[in-house]
Amino acid sequence: MSVTQTPLVEMNNVSIAFGGIRAVDDASVDLYPGEVMALLGHNGAGKSTLIKILSGAYKRDAGEIRVDGKPVAINNPRDAKHYGIETIYQTLALADNVDAAANLFLGRERLTPWGTLDDVAMEAEAREVMGRLNPRFERFKDPVKALSGGQRQSVAIARAILFNARILIMDEPTAALGPQETAQVAELVKQLKSEGIGIFLISHDIHDVFDLADRVCVMKNGQVVGTAGTGDVTEDEVLGMIILGKCPAGATPGPGALSAVA
Ligand SMILES: Nc1ncnc2c1ncn2[C@@H]1O[C@H](COP(=O)(O)OP(=O)(O)O)[C@@H](O)[C@H]1O
Ligand SMILES: [Mg+2]
Repeated sequence: MSVTQTPLVEMNNVSIAFGGIRAVDDASVDLYPGEVMALLGHNGAGKSTLIKILSGAYKRDAGEIRVDGKPVAINNPRDAKHYGIETIYQTLALADNVDAAANLFLGRERLTPWGTLDDVAMEAEAREVMGRLNPRFERFKDPVKALSGGQRQSVAIARAILFNARILIMDEPTAALGPQETAQVAELVKQLKSEGIGIFLISHDIHDVFDLADRVCVMKNGQVVGTAGTGDVTEDEVLGMIILGKCPAGATPGPGALSAVA
């Protein structure tokens, strides 16, 4: 990644509190095109809250968000989508009783010049985008409830990128999947990267994401412990960041890093 490249997205000094709890406290993170940034930390660390601020689900109390280097106002999910920010929720939010194409165009259906549903165009587009993501996917006629977890995941991702997502947020995408389906999600992520999409991959389990991520950002108690290229730190060091808040030499410390003991 060249130093002259502008990040796709930057969150700078972002904070939000619920009641007295600082769920996210002065957190900064950025993401480059074609990059996978893993957001790691224990349950309750603030990962989901941080990305919900980016996706417009929560309004931050402080801090700024930049897209392509420019400050942007993200106050609701519609704003986020406008900037190409799409979220794949753990629940996937699919309509179980209809097929993949219907899910891709849910609420944004293509119409013929006569105002009727253009099923031919929608199925052709669905085949094109699904073919890019998951070339082995054949089950275009089945309701998505009949699909495997990995296939369902690819439908949810296809729906996001069909509408020109540039920044994809995946919150614990493999939490409910078996090993084979987890591998399938890894393939999807690699394909998205090759298309220049930037991905925030959230997980509480370092083993899920370390091999896929270009960088990791570790959170603890709402604060960023540190950020590092996955080539610059070991998995054990990242575990030390997650558990102890200890920032290793290969990482850039954040406000949540344990101060060095003399
Ligand atoms: N809507 C909310 N109202 C009150 N507290 C919340 C809300 N969302 C998150 N929190 C609190 O913020 C903290 C961070 O939670 P979360 O972002 O879900 O962590 P993570 O995704 O890292 O597990 C936790 O203490 C959680 O209880
Ligand atoms: Mg979470």
